[in-house]
Amino acid sequence: MTDKQNNVLNIENLSVKVGDKNILKSLNLTIKSGEIHALMGPNGAGKSTLAQAIIGNPKYTVTTGKILINGKDITDLQLYERAREGIFLAFQEPVSVQGLKYINFLRTAYMSLHPNEKLEYKKFIEQVQELLGLFRLDKSFIDRSLNDGLSGGEKKRMEALQMLLFKPKFVILDEIDSGLDVDALKIVAEAVKKAKESGTGILIITHYKRILDYVSPDFIHVLVDGTIVESGKAEIAKKIEEYGYDYYRRGEVNAKVG
Ligand SMILES: Nc1ncnc2c1ncn2[C@@H]1O[C@H](COP(=O)(O)OP(=O)(O)O)[C@@H](O)[C@H]1O
Ligand SMILES: [Mg+2]
Repeated sequence: MTDKQNNVLNIENLSVKVGDKNILKSLNLTIKSGEIHALMGPNGAGKSTLAQAIIGNPKYTVTTGKILINGKDITDLQLYERAREGIFLAFQEPVSVQGLKYINFLRTAYMSLHPNEKLEYKKFIEQVQELLGLFRLDKSFIDRSLNDGLSGGEKKRMEALQMLLFKPKFVILDEIDSGLDVDALKIVAEAVKKAKESGTGILIITHYKRILDYVSPDFIHVLVDGTIVESGKAEIAKKIEEYGYDYYRRGEVNAKVG
């Protein structure tokens, strides 16, 4: 899936509702291979909603606009079909599944994402073990149940491991930094840079500037009340740290009045 990459994810005029509540409003965002985009915003702004809408969670209804990968409209595709198109989401709250061993989960997921690739089991295990080493996770993890009994930080590192193993065209990291200590944060940040180098387009969703200090995003977007209110570079994160998200809320009120 990942030769020399030249992929484009286009989100055009996207409005999304959950139940009868409109959450995202005419959102536009373009992510290309090898770019790191950070999406920042306060609680409830709609960040996870955007992630869920991109991966195709059926609870989230697209009311206007579309999502395209390399010009192909994926807005109506099922979740697993989008995964095959190369979209990967690291969950804010990774699920636990008793009795499903990691290695079997990883292998099944890899094969369904890369149906045309012949997978050699021995090589695959070696690759997974190498990645476990990179993420400072114990080799015995492959025989443990999916996320069962893992600490929060270990789960997050496992999610980041999957990003490197599955080689998606695009990855969305939804608050992968929350609950990580500084060492784990650095490891995850290194993985993000590796994914970037391999040509993956990356969307990092976060409240905090902290992870951005390690990954240096190419673009930062601020989401407030379902709309991107500002896009730019590192100076935006500094502004948020200094003034908080209220700065943008006030701006919106002023714009409406004026
Ligand atoms: N599955 C859902 N059911 C009902 N409301 C939801 C659901 N997902 C999100 N929302 C609502 O949509 C808004 C945005 O939520 P979310 O996208 O999780 O924000 P963020 O990730 O920025 O904190 C919130 O008001 C939230 O309560
Ligand atoms: Mg969220």
